[in-house]
Amino acid sequence: MRDTRPFGTLFNVYRDGYEWVNHSLNPKPVPRDLRVQFGGSECSQPYAASPLNISAMSFGALSKNAIMALNLGAKQGGFAHNTGEGGCSPYHLQAGGDLIWQIGTGYFGCRNKDGNFDAELFQKTACKTSVKMIEIKLSQGAKLGHGGILPAVKLTEEIARIRHVPMGHDVISPPAHTSFSTPKGLLEFVVQLRELSGGRPVGFKLCISNRSEFLGICKAMLETGITPDFITVDGGEGGTGAAPIELTNSVGTPLRDALIFVHSALPGIGKREQVRIIASGKAYSAFHVLRLIALGADTVNVARAMMFALGCIQSRHCDADTCPTGVATQNPAHYKALDVELKAKRVAHYHAATIENLKELLAACGLESLDQLMPWHINRRVEGTQIKNYDELYPCIERDCLLDEKHIPNDWKEDWQRASATHW
Ligand SMILES: Cc1cc2nc3c(=O)[nH]c(=O)nc-3n(C[C@H](O)[C@H](O)[C@H](O)COP(=O)(O)O)c2cc1C
Ligand code: SF4
Repeated sequence: MRDTRPFGTLFNVYRDGYEWVNHSLNPKPVPRDLRVQFGGSECSQPYAASPLNISAMSFGALSKNAIMALNLGAKQGGFAHNTGEGGCSPYHLQAGGDLIWQIGTGYFGCRNKDGNFDAELFQKTACKTSVKMIEIKLSQGAKLGHGGILPAVKLTEEIARIRHVPMGHDVISPPAHTSFSTPKGLLEFVVQLRELSGGRPVGFKLCISNRSEFLGICKAMLETGITPDFITVDGGEGGTGAAPIELTNSVGTPLRDALIFVHSALPGIGKREQVRIIASGKAYSAFHVLRLIALGADTVNVARAMMFALGCIQSRHCDADTCPTGVATQNPAHYKALDVELKAKRVAHYHAATIENLKELLAACGLESLDQLMPWHINRRVEGTQIKNYDELYPCIERDCLLDEKHIPNDWKEDWQRASATHW
């Protein structure tokens, strides 16, 4: 396949909003390995992750063939596949690719008859060899204040069995968790899952809304001494299999604004080194990944780009069970057409090509590793001839400044004072 293009860019490099990365007059050789270590001293089973992994998408939203192709692709390419909140199905486990098991408010795959968390069921799946990390889902950018939705038209007997839910109704996860109701409670749940999973890294996913609520989690980290191993920051521009339109369009902080906030708050409380940040939201190219890492992410998750690798043509019928490409349907007549082996190769190729391009970009910048990427490496044409770099556009606060009242920046004071470790 062609990996070069003749003639030059087709982008209009003089339009407002155009962005580019600074190269160096002293380029470096292409780096060999970009893997990022997850899991601190509390984890007996840390995980070395690729900088690019498959974001959460459930079996239910996606077909079993799509799930099998994603996981086989992850296995072939040596990267991780997030199960989504619909549970860890046999199709996630078949190929043996690395899994991040996501636990949402419905606790699918680890719930008792009342729909609450079941520690024994959790432990059974969490300790499977393929499961490398656990992600607690608090929220996702596309449908804030709303739990996951699996429309009744896509609910099969098999999915109902895997999720332990009745047939014939939309499967709607509650908007909030029942295992905890405060920032402190969330961190205690992190510890519980870490122990039950045999020392695997445990983190949580959220889309940022009220800054004081996230700062409440930061205060809880300071008060309890507990840190999650990672935080996944999902942008308000995130995708979904099904969601009310007003929630997808007008709720939640866009990714870049949220990312720089989280990447400021954690150093602000002196905890950045202990916590990895995963970013997700409309990334698909190596430059998109590089840009998010320059802004503070350690790794990037992609959902819709992986759907494209599976053959998605953006017809946007994912909630109607009529997906023409077999990616997001439970209708066998449609999903049988999705060739698992072929699409797994495409998933692995997309990942490998993006990582190769990321390495080339880094080398051109004169850098040897991802942690050398800084916000000032990225430029934006703000308007006309006015150009600013990300350091100017997204200023960070001083390290440890939230630890002492006297040093809290003025525009953080109100949110910090409002934040509480014992209520959201
Ligand atoms: C079909 C589909 C299903 C999704 N299911 C979940 C899910 O179960 N849990 C979750 O946290 N996010 C879910 N998401 C959101 C993605 O994981 C991701 O956070 C979001 O789409 C942003 O990434 P993208 O822009 O690369 O798609 C889903 C997205 C899509 C498109
Ligand atoms: S082809 Fe259409 S229905 Fe299928 S996954 Fe893509 S957008 Fe959704």
